[in-house]
Amino acid sequence: MPNIAEASAVKTALTSHFDIQYPIICAPMFLVSSVKLVVAACEAGGLGTFPALNFRPMEKYHQAIRDIKAQTDKPFGINIIVQDSNRYKDEQIDIALKENVALLITSLGKPKDVIKRAHEVGTKVYCDVINLEHAKKVVDMGADGLIAVSSGAGGHAGDVTPFTLLPALKAAFDVPVIASGSIVDGKGMAAAFSLGAEGVYMGTRFIASEEAEVDQAFKTEIVNAGFEDIVNTDRVDGFPGNFILNDALKRVGLNRGFFEELVSRNRKIKKWISISRAARSLLGDPTSKVSYKTVFSAGQCVELIDEVKSVKTIMEDTIQEYQQIKANLP
Ligand SMILES: Cc1cc2nc3c(=O)[nH]c(=O)nc-3n(C[C@H](O)[C@H](O)[C@H](O)COP(=O)(O)O)c2cc1C
Repeated sequence: MPNIAEASAVKTALTSHFDIQYPIICAPMFLVSSVKLVVAACEAGGLGTFPALNFRPMEKYHQAIRDIKAQTDKPFGINIIVQDSNRYKDEQIDIALKENVALLITSLGKPKDVIKRAHEVGTKVYCDVINLEHAKKVVDMGADGLIAVSSGAGGHAGDVTPFTLLPALKAAFDVPVIASGSIVDGKGMAAAFSLGAEGVYMGTRFIASEEAEVDQAFKTEIVNAGFEDIVNTDRVDGFPGNFILNDALKRVGLNRGFFEELVSRNRKIKKWISISRAARSLLGDPTSKVSYKTVFSAGQCVELIDEVKSVKTIMEDTIQEYQQIKANLP
């Protein structure tokens, strides 16, 4: 691991949007991003984020924002699903804007209204995108940045390789592009930057951190897994996502039943099944069979993660390695 150079600030459009030291976002992760993890990422020089749905009911969500603000004066971000499957979205947006949260990250749905309202109070909105078509729509709506979710990412990954997605987005749009998908170190960051990214979004790497408040089994599985253990399936919440094929997921099974296969051929029914399964998985009884609490989502980068480290060490190792690679380029 690199430790010759001191990790010094890296300036990009992302760092100037938020006045942060490193262009590293600790990605929002359902049931993973806690107040402690967000604060650790912010204090380490990056930008911490969390999905709004991690804190329910609404009073807990509001309290989480207040707790983060009490523990760090650095900017942080909140990921909000702006699709109808999230029935709390309006209230989540209201509270975030009232609290002057620096960054909102939208996934699914149409972010037009939230972008307009956020800009009125100086909040920036970055949008998750997986292709050019969706990116054009959100840029036309006024998005301040794009999270390019490529294949191999933890959670609901896209299906385009970053070697195509990043340069294509960079060439087409004039807003910062943040690379998401299996980045764990300075090599990944240097690669993403050479493809046009101005920041990296790291998820799985931060689950295997000292500060992540997840089941120890989740961390151990990440450290032990290789990329052959990651499967893409829609069995967990109705949308294709990357998961570790552990015993719990094997019990759920990866194949659809006959009836589901049949009705899925109708687009509208398929969409309804996805939304209702997502809502049940996100909002339903946590002890139910298919849940993020029994199966673990992670990116293909599990292959590259060999130990649990502190958030600060992860950030500094990444920046140092990135700077060494940059300095050694011919
Ligand atoms: C356990 C887990 C939960 C996630 N939950 C969310 C989420 O609630 N909202 C979201 O926008 N992305 C979510 N993601 C995706 C991450 O924000 C990010 O795009 C992804 O982790 C990047 O890929 P990597 O894990 O390979 O670094 C999740 C990812 C993981 C691993």
